[in-house]
Parts: sequence; structure tokens; C-alpha cells
Amino acid sequence: MISIANQISNDIERDGYSITHGLFSESVLDTLRIYAESGVGRGKYKSAGIGSGSQYQIQERIRGDQIWWLDREEGSVIEKVFLQFDRLKDDLNQSLYLGLFDFECHLAQYKSGSAYERHYDRPLASKRRKLTVTLYLNKGWSSNDGGNLRLYLNSGLEQFIDIVPRFGTLVVFLSELFAHEVLTCNRDRHSLTGWFLERP
Ligand code: OGA
Ligand code: MN
Repeated sequence: MISIANQISNDIERDGYSITHGLFSESVLDTLRIYAESGVGRGKYKSAGIGSGSQYQIQERIRGDQIWWLDREEGSVIEKVFLQFDRLKDDLNQSLYLGLFDFECHLAQYKSGSAYERHYDRPLASKRRKLTVTLYLNKGWSSNDGGNLRLYLNSGLEQFIDIVPRFGTLVVFLSELFAHEVLTCNRDRHSLTGWFLERP
């Protein structure tokens, strides 16, 4: 049977993006979901901005999520998540020679009613971002809940795929190639988003 990492690698090679389930066990996903939700009441999430350096600003109409940057934390579920992404990085480097060097990630919370307009993840200030990964943590999400990730398949607006942010769905794509947006959600929406970085 083909492993999930192989599947991701084949998808990236063929299409530049991948949508899979199963890289993480149910128990890791559930512990991560509880961890993510626990940060809300503890003030861990900060409004996310756009731009960088002196251009940095918070504009909730453009980007409505709140984020919690993560550090490798020994003994917690976050360590397991980092280790799993380390393994994926090694597998992708072996099969695709992508030169992935490091990984950074944050948890994100979109309050009901918020969205993130169409953008690329590789602005000038984040030139090292090679691959974007997003892991969804929403149990019982239905298509009425909105909040799809819309991934544009070329530079125009006509061709896209919509990905429902269901519990355990993992999206991986080449950061430079794909514009994307988060459609308005009708329910609070939780996810982990990260980037595999090239060598500085
Ligand atoms: C981002 C982003 C997508 C998502 O954080 O840059 O585009 O589906 N997130 O949460
Ligand atoms: Mn993005």
C-alpha cells in the first residue's frame, strides 16, 4: 500500500498540490484540536496582520483570523506534530529534491463571519517559503458552515477548487504557485498552517 507521504509526493509532482487524510492519527488530531481550542480562553491567539516590516498592518476585513505561533514543546502534542512534519520533510526531500530545510507553523482561529482574501503565501519578506501545509481541526463541519479554502489553479479567477476544512484533511501546495483564499465561515474554524522553508 502506498504511504500517505508517497501520495503527497506524487500529488505535488503531478499537480503542485495535494489533499489527503491520514498522515496524523485520530488521537493526535483530537489532542491537537483540544490544544488549539484551549488557547482561545487563555489569550494565546493574536490578530493576524498582512504585510511585513513597516508595511505590517491588521485589517480584519482582508484577513480575519487570529493566530498562535508554535514552538517545539517537549512532551506535548505539538512535539508529535513537529516530528511528523519533519518526517514528511525528509520524505519529500528524498523524492522531489525540494531542498526543504526548516518548518514553521501556527494555529489559526477564524471566528464565525471572518475570512482571508485571495493572496499568495510567498511575499518578498517570506521568500524561503516553499510548501504550505494546512491541517483542519473542525469536527462535524458541513458545507453549510462555509469557510472553504479556495485554491486557484492558475493566475486567473475562473479555475479553482474548494476544499472543505474537515477534521483531519491535510492540504499541501507549492507556496509560490497558488493564490488562495478562505471563504467566510459561519462557524468558528480551527486549523494549523505551516510552511516548509528553504535554506536561508
Ligand atoms: C494562511 C492561509 C488557509 C486556511 O494562513 O496563509 O491561507 O485554509 N490559510 O486556513
Ligand atoms: Mn495563505
